[in-house]
Amino acid sequence: MSKNLIEKAASRLREPHASNGFPPPGAARVPDAPGPDAPIPLAVPVHRPQPAAGDDAPGQSIDRARLRRLGVMTPDDERTQIGEQFRLLKRPILDNAFGPPASRLPRGNLVMVASSLPGEGKSFCAVNLAISIAMEMDRTVLLVDADVERSKVLHYLGLTARHGLLDILRTPELTVGDALVRTDIERLTVLPGGTPYKRATELLASEAMRKLVRELASRYPDRLILFDSPPLLMTTEATVLAAHMGQIIVVVEERQTPQDALKKALAMIAGLPVSGLVLNKSTARHRDYYYDAV
Ligand SMILES: Nc1ncnc2c1ncn2[C@@H]1O[C@H](COP(=O)(O)OP(=O)(O)OP(=O)(O)O)[C@@H](O)[C@H]1O
Ligand SMILES: [Mg+2]
Repeated sequence: MSKNLIEKAASRLREPHASNGFPPPGAARVPDAPGPDAPIPLAVPVHRPQPAAGDDAPGQSIDRARLRRLGVMTPDDERTQIGEQFRLLKRPILDNAFGPPASRLPRGNLVMVASSLPGEGKSFCAVNLAISIAMEMDRTVLLVDADVERSKVLHYLGLTARHGLLDILRTPELTVGDALVRTDIERLTVLPGGTPYKRATELLASEAMRKLVRELASRYPDRLILFDSPPLLMTTEATVLAAHMGQIIVVVEERQTPQDALKKALAMIAGLPVSGLVLNKSTARHRDYYYDAV
């Protein structure tokens, strides 16, 4: 994947955003995280979560060692290279969601991490972004695993759950609260994909799903709801999900995502609020990221 492609893709995004009065989208570079044998970066504690007042139920413990093995940032890693990249990426997303009213996007707190094809790093970016946002003092984040056929979020975080998104959609007796997984990162809550179901696609495209997404967005207006999603070119539900979103982040894998695939994926979400492109698995070792206003 050449930088040119990103620039081309980015310029394709310029017009709709300008005409809609959206803040300029950006493209961020996320480094290839160190593999299991790479030295573990020195942890710099930046925040020690305290239990919220009146909320004494402990959240499930997120496995920090596992996060590091997978190259995912931990709450103590904001100053590492990976932490820095996601800090840059989250800023415009948070501004679009919670900035001054004049520059906020409609339903800007609903954010989908999308990409054209499998394996480009949607789940990786969604989990990193969620952890990074949860480190903000005044924000909470709900990470929703909407890639229900190949749910990865629980696996990344080392969590377990009984219910998830598909269970809520299928079972009227279940409420959202029954499926939420609170974690020991105080401001990070997870809604897992749920029990596999053969008609999952229909459920995700249903009116119940639309209502659920709206409910999630409005119940806690100061909470960012981040959706990990299936690849746009492989499933129809990704496009349906995209239509509910206030912001869409498109992950591109350096030197892997074919130009045609990216073009097709962008065409599928044309007219929707794409607010950034992430160049993932970049092998550039320098600290140089770019965050072009496009
Ligand atoms: N920046 C990165 N550094 C190191 N490993 C990465 C990076 N991004 C992704 N990976 C790894 O690449 C693999 C694919 O990533 P991931 O599962 O996030 O892709 P995906 O787009 O969610 O795929 P799918 O569409 O199949 O769900 C995983 O093993 C993940 O840990
Ligand atoms: Mg995934």
